[in-house]
Amino acid sequence: MNEYCAKYGLNEERLPRHVAIIMDGNGRWAKKRLWNRLKGHRAGADAVDAVTTLCREIGVEYLTLYAFSTENWNRPESEVSGLMELFKEFLVSKKGLLIEKQIRLNIIGSKDKFAPELLKLMNETIAETKKYEPKMTLTLALSYGSRQEITTAVRKIAKMAADGEITPEKIDEKLISENLYTFNMPDPDLVIRTSGEYRISNYLLWQIAYSEFYFTDTLWPDFKKDEFIKALKDFAGRERRFGKTGDQVKG
Ligand code: FPP
Repeated sequence: MNEYCAKYGLNEERLPRHVAIIMDGNGRWAKKRLWNRLKGHRAGADAVDAVTTLCREIGVEYLTLYAFSTENWNRPESEVSGLMELFKEFLVSKKGLLIEKQIRLNIIGSKDKFAPELLKLMNETIAETKKYEPKMTLTLALSYGSRQEITTAVRKIAKMAADGEITPEKIDEKLISENLYTFNMPDPDLVIRTSGEYRISNYLLWQIAYSEFYFTDTLWPDFKKDEFIKALKDFAGRERRFGKTGDQVKG
């Protein structure tokens, strides 16, 4: 029995293997306090810490966080550069902890717009955290858009077909999944969105076909351990049917 599951009253048997989160509400959290939006993002980084620590403690194997979408590049320049600075600080300050806790860092998204310095830090941290068998994988979706991801996969597969490596009949769900950024991860069991918005915002569209959803009004910087445990308990009570009937599932 995992001691932390016992401590938090969680049923280890009914934990999600993969949790994906849309971290929303940093801006509103800051605005309520008449603070600059970047302060909200900074507070959001603390919630990232809290949620990652909890996943590692209780044994959630994959945590995937939507930290910056392809559309977020259109935000005011000061906000974009502030966020890039925050990602840099995160990589520098958390590398040691990731290694100590045997957490593997993974980044999904299109890397072509990042400044060389940030890109270097990302690649270094990814490489450093690949040296051990991971106890958990933390994936940051950065400059990520699901339609773009699927388009890239389709282009790759079309090229394979055009080059005669595969026939069109070989294209199946498995091949498509294998050509997404998430090729080495199970699909999310649970998707959480904070801040009272009920949208998917171009996040993991292919991968969430059978995910359970949890929406909360809590703004991301306030989404700490207690809120996350509440979401996990709610998930534990769900009956996942994957298209079958309730009776079949109980079977
Ligand atoms: C959405 O809230 C949040 C983002 C676009 C950025 C998410 C970034 C963080 C949580 C910062 C830390 C992350 C890491 C990985 C260090 P919003 O700004 O759209 O909020 P609003 O809807 O209230 O304006």
